[in-house]
Amino acid sequence: MTGTEQAAQGIDTTRPHPARVYDWYLGGKDNYPVDEQLARRITEIDGGAPRAARANRAFMRRATRALAEEAGIRQFLDIGTGIPTEPNLHQIAQSVAPDARVVYVDNDPIVLAHAGALLRGTPEGVTEYVQADARDPRSILDQAGAILDLDRPVALSLIALLHFLADEDGAHDVVRTLVDALAPGSCLVLSMMTADFEPENVRRGITAYAQGGVTLVARSQDEVGAFFTGLDLLEPGIVSVADWRPEEAPEGDGPISLYGAVGVKTAR
Ligand SMILES: C[S@@+](CC[C@H](N)C(=O)[O-])C[C@H]1O[C@@H](n2cnc3c(N)ncnc32)[C@H](O)[C@@H]1O
Repeated sequence: MTGTEQAAQGIDTTRPHPARVYDWYLGGKDNYPVDEQLARRITEIDGGAPRAARANRAFMRRATRALAEEAGIRQFLDIGTGIPTEPNLHQIAQSVAPDARVVYVDNDPIVLAHAGALLRGTPEGVTEYVQADARDPRSILDQAGAILDLDRPVALSLIALLHFLADEDGAHDVVRTLVDALAPGSCLVLSMMTADFEPENVRRGITAYAQGGVTLVARSQDEVGAFFTGLDLLEPGIVSVADWRPEEAPEGDGPISLYGAVGVKTAR
């Protein structure tokens, strides 16, 4: 993409963006020197940062597959989707259920620029992309409601999203508004950063992100639990993403400072 094309699409290459920093950790090519600079700085502080991104992505795959296979979920609303990285969520869901319907949402223009890769799903299923901000959940529900039947169960994924939303920015209200709109049988899938395992590294990482203009918040296990109020947590509860129903031996040593969990809404 040329500089003119980037500017025309609203892509700001003068400051780091979370989607592009994460893309760098995952070995992607859709990041810019400012993103790489911050990602390298974080990796100097915490050599496990790229490993954490991969573990988070693997959690997304396992949780999505579990919900499609075990819970029979056929509708997915994924907010904070990120730059496409195969396999994407719709590919997991539609490999289990080709008729699965998936709505992706992100607020970063770089994700919009690459959304085409998110829209290549099965002929029987549906994949759609909505450009919207998680802080406006009603608009997301309005747009998603045109594609998903909100009277039937939906898996709501907010994976590696909520650490970009502080409590003061309404993180709890956002999740509550979204979950309240979903039918019984719907599920909430969350992962987010924690300082419970390596407080000093995480504190230094948050400072480095802040110097790059990105605000991050770490939450304790109890604080993550508060997002699941009124929902039933699936086993194994709120654990490091690497420990949520692992299928492979962990990559490398040391903790992954991201909690992951899945809850089910049993009643309105
Ligand atoms: C670390 S990436 C996670 C991508 C993917 N969910 C995953 O876990 O592999 C976080 C994503 O959240 C998006 N994001 C951050 N704040 C957002 C907001 N307020 N509304 C919508 N998306 C947001 C970023 O643009 C980025 O794509």
